[in-house]
Amino acid sequence: MEVSQTKKEAPMKGNSLLAKFFTGDVKKKLQNVRTTSGFTIEDVVRSGTENPDSSIGVYAPDEESYKVFGALFNPVIEEYHGHTEDDFHKNNFNADELDISNPDEEGAFIVSTRVRVGRNLKDFPFNPGISRKERLEVERRVVEALESLEGDLSGKYYPLSGMKEEVREQLVEDHFLFKQGDRFLESAGVNHDWPEGRGIFHSDDKKFLVWVNEEDQLRIISMEQGGDIYSVFNRLARAVSALEKKLEFACSEKLGYLSSCPTNLGTAMRASVHMSLPKLSQRDGFKEMCEEMGLSCSRNSWRALRERGWSI
Ligand code: ARG
Repeated sequence: MEVSQTKKEAPMKGNSLLAKFFTGDVKKKLQNVRTTSGFTIEDVVRSGTENPDSSIGVYAPDEESYKVFGALFNPVIEEYHGHTEDDFHKNNFNADELDISNPDEEGAFIVSTRVRVGRNLKDFPFNPGISRKERLEVERRVVEALESLEGDLSGKYYPLSGMKEEVREQLVEDHFLFKQGDRFLESAGVNHDWPEGRGIFHSDDKKFLVWVNEEDQLRIISMEQGGDIYSVFNRLARAVSALEKKLEFACSEKLGYLSSCPTNLGTAMRASVHMSLPKLSQRDGFKEMCEEMGLSCSRNSWRALRERGWSI
């Protein structure tokens, strides 16, 4: 009697975009390829494999990964951003072309407004793939650039390692401090050598802030009380342009500014307002109303969202 056995591959667990697109042919195609620095598809998929509840599940250890592992990244990017392989990136950081007024002049609802962009240095691996030595060099270059900023952007850098207790408490109180990455970032390798090489820069007026070597090498943040979106964006645009004179950021004509997580590709920008709408969540149909407006509804703060793997 002849027994034939066809080995059937078990599908990946979960509903992540990794599980959706990392299948037969794509797997086969990518299994033996490497980037010039030696990164493999295992490095790309580790976080999503170890955390089946991921929503995306992939990280890029370096710039080249987006090309070399394009058979996986491209469909993920297309599904998340609606950006196809043939599309090019366009952006406009000219604040004066922003046609926007404060939606809440009286300050009745908007508590604060925050706009951030993520950036990484060209010619260095991204934080999932960076070595200790390279991370320290990134920190050195970024801090040098930050310390050259002038006017309302000038401020001070606070390294996380060896931070004095009173400095730490103040940064916690200002909600500026970032914590060691969550389990998604942990699996991706972003937490290596924590907390060395990481730190926070903020301007004297505390409206301009840079996280160094968190999920991305720079998270450039502008924030202030109230809803003056123009003022917040204008500060961010000035900061980005001043930093661009000192640092070269990883950027491609197709994908825009490159980030370690594909959700941030493009402008790598996220803009948010923190609103206080008392008792609204107690109304019937609150969840449905949020859904209709494309809002994710949560009683949680930014910090709590971050703990659940949300990009802030
Ligand atoms: N890797 C996590 C996931 O796939 C987070 C994705 C978005 N968040 C972020 N911080 N980049 O669910």
